[in-house]
Amino acid sequence: MRKIKTLNNISQKGLCLFGKDYEVSESVENPEAILVRSAQVDTDSFSELLAVARAGAGVNNITIDKASAKGICVFNAPGANANAVAELVMTILGMEVRHVFEATNWVKNLDPNDPALDKTIEKGKKMFSGTELSGKTLGVIGLGKIGVLVSNYARWKNMNVVAYDPYPSAANMHKLSNVVSVVKTIDEVIAKSDFITVHVPFIKGVTENMLNEKNLAAFKGSIIMNFARGGIVNMDTVYKMLDEGRLQSYLTDFADKKSLQNPKIKIFPHLGASTEEAEENCAVMAVEELKDYLEFGVVRNS
Ligand code: MLT
Repeated sequence: MRKIKTLNNISQKGLCLFGKDYEVSESVENPEAILVRSAQVDTDSFSELLAVARAGAGVNNITIDKASAKGICVFNAPGANANAVAELVMTILGMEVRHVFEATNWVKNLDPNDPALDKTIEKGKKMFSGTELSGKTLGVIGLGKIGVLVSNYARWKNMNVVAYDPYPSAANMHKLSNVVSVVKTIDEVIAKSDFITVHVPFIKGVTENMLNEKNLAAFKGSIIMNFARGGIVNMDTVYKMLDEGRLQSYLTDFADKKSLQNPKIKIFPHLGASTEEAEENCAVMAVEELKDYLEFGVVRNS
């Protein structure tokens, strides 16, 4: 019987793919493999471990260096939740340019006993008048699976898309050649965009502080979104730009103490991949990878 430890709730659709030869539960001791979503995994804590699979894209909750040193395979589920993230990013951008978050809060806080309630509500139409996405330029930083989907969704909304990837993939460039203006430097994206959205992984010393005081000085737009990882956009620069009125709003899936206290920063609880479909896709991909590896020694993805 093969022993798989699950951490976090993993979608049943994925777990069902393990057949009768597998013992799969949270309480499994000395597992051969671990299936995880967001919990931290220290691979040194398990003596029999052969593999860890993450039902998600990023693997920064797993001790990769320790795993590599011991020959423990670490799998992820690239692309399995890309659509969920891309849809959320475009939805939130659309809501932000129309001030939907503020407007709905404002209405909810009105006095229901106000005799002039209708007139007060009418004022909101002017107060929260917004702008449209159509005709605006979206800067997409990172053209992996999520960046490609975001670019396509933006084009369907009649936006111009200008994009940059530090490590462009030929396949993705072909998919995008008629859709996006791909530029060679991040500076060009920053200078040309009304709104910026970030879709690169966090890699220390590489994408860390990729958007920073120096390059963001050229930004003339209003909104920056980071639904990729914390650490990619330099937050001190963001606070400064917001304070000085050089940035209208910053929207992110990652919280820190200071951002929580800043009303111009809208923070979501790492919601990008939280859909039924994405959770199922990720679980299915991660389980299939584990089974292929444990049963046939096949490594499906890197
Ligand atoms: C991912 O790495 O896929 C994302 O962080 C989404 C998640 O797992 O919630």
